[in-house]
Amino acid sequence: MPNSKQKNHANVSTLLDESRIFSPSKKFLSNVQIKDDSLIKKAAQDRLAFWAQWASKLTWSKPWDKILDWTDAPFAKWFVGGKLNACVNCVDRHIKAGKGQKKAFIWVGENSDQRTLTYADVFAEVNKLANVIKDLGITKGDRVAIYLPMVPEAMISMLACARIGAVHTVVFGGFSADSLQSRINDCEAKLLITADGGYRRGNVLLLKEIADKAITGCPSVKNVLVVQRTKSSVKMISQRDHWYHELLAKAKPQCPPEEMDSEDLLFILYTSGTTGKPKGIIHTTGGYMTGVAATTKWVFDLQDEDIFWCTADVGWITGHSYIVYGPMANGATQVIYEGSPDFPQRNRFWKIIEEHKVSIFYTAPTAIRAFMKWGIEWPKGCDLSSLRLLGSVGEPINPEAWVWYHEHIGRSNCPIVDTWWQTETGCILISPLAGITDLKPGSATKSLPGIDVKIINEDAKEIKEGGGFLVLTSPWPSMLRGIYGDPKRYKETYWSKWSENIYFTGDGAKKDTDGYFWLLGRVDDIMLVAGHNISTMEVESALVDHPAVAEAAVIGATDEIKGQAIVAFVTLKEGKPSLDRIEDILKAHVANKIGAIARPRQIILTADLPKTRSGKIMRRLLRDVAEGRALGDVTTLADVEVVEALKKKYEHVES
Ligand code: WT7
Repeated sequence: MPNSKQKNHANVSTLLDESRIFSPSKKFLSNVQIKDDSLIKKAAQDRLAFWAQWASKLTWSKPWDKILDWTDAPFAKWFVGGKLNACVNCVDRHIKAGKGQKKAFIWVGENSDQRTLTYADVFAEVNKLANVIKDLGITKGDRVAIYLPMVPEAMISMLACARIGAVHTVVFGGFSADSLQSRINDCEAKLLITADGGYRRGNVLLLKEIADKAITGCPSVKNVLVVQRTKSSVKMISQRDHWYHELLAKAKPQCPPEEMDSEDLLFILYTSGTTGKPKGIIHTTGGYMTGVAATTKWVFDLQDEDIFWCTADVGWITGHSYIVYGPMANGATQVIYEGSPDFPQRNRFWKIIEEHKVSIFYTAPTAIRAFMKWGIEWPKGCDLSSLRLLGSVGEPINPEAWVWYHEHIGRSNCPIVDTWWQTETGCILISPLAGITDLKPGSATKSLPGIDVKIINEDAKEIKEGGGFLVLTSPWPSMLRGIYGDPKRYKETYWSKWSENIYFTGDGAKKDTDGYFWLLGRVDDIMLVAGHNISTMEVESALVDHPAVAEAAVIGATDEIKGQAIVAFVTLKEGKPSLDRIEDILKAHVANKIGAIARPRQIILTADLPKTRSGKIMRRLLRDVAEGRALGDVTTLADVEVVEALKKKYEHVES
């Protein structure tokens, strides 16, 4: 690799190879905004003043009186007394600045549809929709549920809510009627915005039909607004259901924005965690906007001429923070793609990058591993020279995938920002600043300026080098303000393991001699094998390091002798010759990489792994399979068949 250099380390782990360092290329450095550590120094000098300075880059209708109120910890207030509107910050102010003709969205449908919307177009549609929503009886503080495919109306609906001070709750279009129903009922949404259908892998998903099923059990919903996307036939219930395009055609063109308090709710987003009942995470206006606007600029080095593409769905926090609020607060031009990466062919993403000259590309490790599985011939034939920075989010990116991404997508010219954060944190908290941070494949590197991340042990003692619990020791502007309707659960879940001043992320991590963070996954996913702590992620990473393996999920199954024994579910790469006794080869490979202690007791080959719809492996279900239990809650599972098939296979292997 052209720009990697080796560094000597006394304590080098073979797997998470801390010695492998990538420095940014000259080409990237010639045009990057953050070139030195002045930002970091400023934050270290006075954290609150630093954040206030970034907040002041937003448009406020009234300045705040106090930067932070933390007297009632863990209930934080940021920019107390300040007034602003998120929609004004994402749309109106760019038009005022003369950028109305700048493209906001280049939208690519899964079929051959394409739409380009300028900031002026977005302004016009958002204003009309805001008036429509108001006419349907929605006022400040009311909740609006959004259940849409990735069409421009999804982003526009969020902004229209923000404009009138309604609280949106976006439910990912892949969720079932039950999941939609429980989310609507939890926040008592009065209005639902949905579509007739959406395209996915060439098929039409009939959203309105699912929504109809859901709202039979949702007494709070008084109106349904239906976007026409697929022209599928739908049953419209008179009085309750309205066509979006019909009401918009009649709507008044101007809707004055509501003046919102910095601490007024902007949205509720339900986390589809891998365990337990979904939590309605709440985010407010001033602090959230400050966090996402600033980090979009720092982490992605977003500049005026960039074409930014975040492949997430707006149903996830990534879509909220890095499609709608962060990039739009910065007046970005974005590519939005409706469908799946393999339709009509496995080069769809690379074709889109080529055609629209995408310069910043942000995706997830699970997608990268799928690309690896499909093979390099798909990106190979495409011109990806417009790319200058790549990003990753959602789970630890294994070094193997990192290097593949760097080489085959970035063509060794683009830094990769591995961004660690959560629905709860609102914005990215750990990530390289690509102009100044040397990169180590598999490490999210360091915390961002103004953010206090630490690793501590059970006794809250800081661990400067080594592994432990990842925590935040000061409040930050875009932090969650609570769980909707459940302050007790908020306190218990995040702020009670040590004290109400220490936020527990739920993740395990370690710090190396250079102070780099290596995320090790959820602490629930740490196994205790014969008295040793082994992270599932480390074993998975070792497995994926083998050339035959595409993806792996590892769990600790109860073992009479060892406490827990390692069971690995493995999918193999396509098109590779099958190896004899591959299970034994892989066991030996892991033992060789990490040590005999980590040798899996069992390797189960499978065509697919059970994942949530956001791509996270549901290890909880794999544990159920491995221990022969009835499956727990499967409502967040993307494909129920996968786990049923695995269950059969496992029972077969066991007997
Ligand atoms: C959890 C949060 C943040 C948007 C998408 C997921 C894991 C996220 C990374 C990363 C290692 C990561 C953590 C975290 N995670 N990004 N770059 N490296 N782990 O949001 O559904 O709220 O999940 O995802 O375990 O706690 P989420």
